[in-house]
Amino acid sequence: MTHFDQAWQRLRSTGSPDCSSASPCPRQKRLFPETADLLDLPSRSALPRVRGGTETGYGGEAVAADPIGLFDSARLEIRNYHMTSYAEELARDIRAGLSSGQKQIPSKYFYDERGSRLFEEICRLPEYYPTRTEMAILEEHAGAIMEPFTAGDLVEMGSGANWKICRLLDAAAQPHGAGIRYVPLDVSESALQAAAEELIRMYGGLEVLGIVADFTRNLDRIPDDADRLITLFGGTIGNFTDAEAAELLEGVSALMRRGDRFLIGMDTVKDTDLLEAAYNDARGITAAFNKNVLNVVNRELCATFDLDLFDHVAFYNETSDQIEMHLAARQAMAVEIAALDMVVEFENGETIHTEISRKFSRERAIRIFEDAGLAPQRWFTDENGWFSLVELVRR
Ligand SMILES: C[S@@+](CC[C@H](N)C(=O)[O-])C[C@H]1O[C@@H](n2cnc3c(N)ncnc32)[C@H](O)[C@@H]1O
Repeated sequence: MTHFDQAWQRLRSTGSPDCSSASPCPRQKRLFPETADLLDLPSRSALPRVRGGTETGYGGEAVAADPIGLFDSARLEIRNYHMTSYAEELARDIRAGLSSGQKQIPSKYFYDERGSRLFEEICRLPEYYPTRTEMAILEEHAGAIMEPFTAGDLVEMGSGANWKICRLLDAAAQPHGAGIRYVPLDVSESALQAAAEELIRMYGGLEVLGIVADFTRNLDRIPDDADRLITLFGGTIGNFTDAEAAELLEGVSALMRRGDRFLIGMDTVKDTDLLEAAYNDARGITAAFNKNVLNVVNRELCATFDLDLFDHVAFYNETSDQIEMHLAARQAMAVEIAALDMVVEFENGETIHTEISRKFSRERAIRIFEDAGLAPQRWFTDENGWFSLVELVRR
């Protein structure tokens, strides 16, 4: 019996916890508008403060905030390269993905405002070891990572919330982010805007240039007029197939110059039970996050997905060393997607594949770095070897 079968049977026998809700389809004027039905999550500013006078929202001891806490819009610029092409791209991806043999939706569509906040909530779950492990590695090694970087652009691909970058900013040689321009790049405009504004308030010397864009296509939007420390945290590289990851790493390698460094987070191969627990949390937050992608399709493309008729399924595929997330139809049904003039038929139990999260052995990681022309300089990990942060330079 495959892991999928086991997961499916388990799910069928227990039912799937879920705290999401289906939404009707008022055609929206803009993509990813504010949603009123967010879970009851703490606001970022209500989260605990940590070392260095910052509010990162994840762990750390409470100390006084930076006295330079005013919002100074002159230090913040956000460039949006995304919105014009995005509606067309979503329509194209959904049409292709839901017409294929194994139905699929690309995972980048998880991250509307609600999805981004659900992901933040996932990061706080006891079962979800990657965030706290990566944060602990950063906590221990931020000084060493920042030591060669005294000024320039601190670029964060797939930035989301600002927890991790705060660890680096707090360890910078100059206080309050002085001399540093933070360049977050994310598809989620709402998450990027909120995190950028918060950082401006927290670090009185920091400049922020936010780039709303897709890093699989828009890496050329990252400025190249300063030394750069480029980061890709959160195991995000694991959300790509081998071919896609190779293309992304080659793209980053191509834009790096001598002196630039690339810090990449990677989740590692480990015990199946531990992995599967991380993607099947008891509170059903991951289920809500997974199902939320159907809300996105309903809202943006006027579709009729009933979220209650889909189950969250996540299992570890040991053959390809990846967690797979699916949405499984509870019954045969037809779903209309009005904006695409399309009806999608589902058989009972048929799934939409929504995400992979690949886990890396050190050997495999080194191979894909080398293939992309990147060389590991330093390898930071935790005592269990559950997560790695690798510092890379161009070969
Ligand atoms: C797994 S989350 C990680 C968030 C954060 N960096 C962390 O470590 O907790 C992935 C982030 O990457 C963004 N993202 C996903 N695909 C993207 C793409 N193709 N281009 C730009 N951002 C993307 C999402 O919006 C989300 O903020």
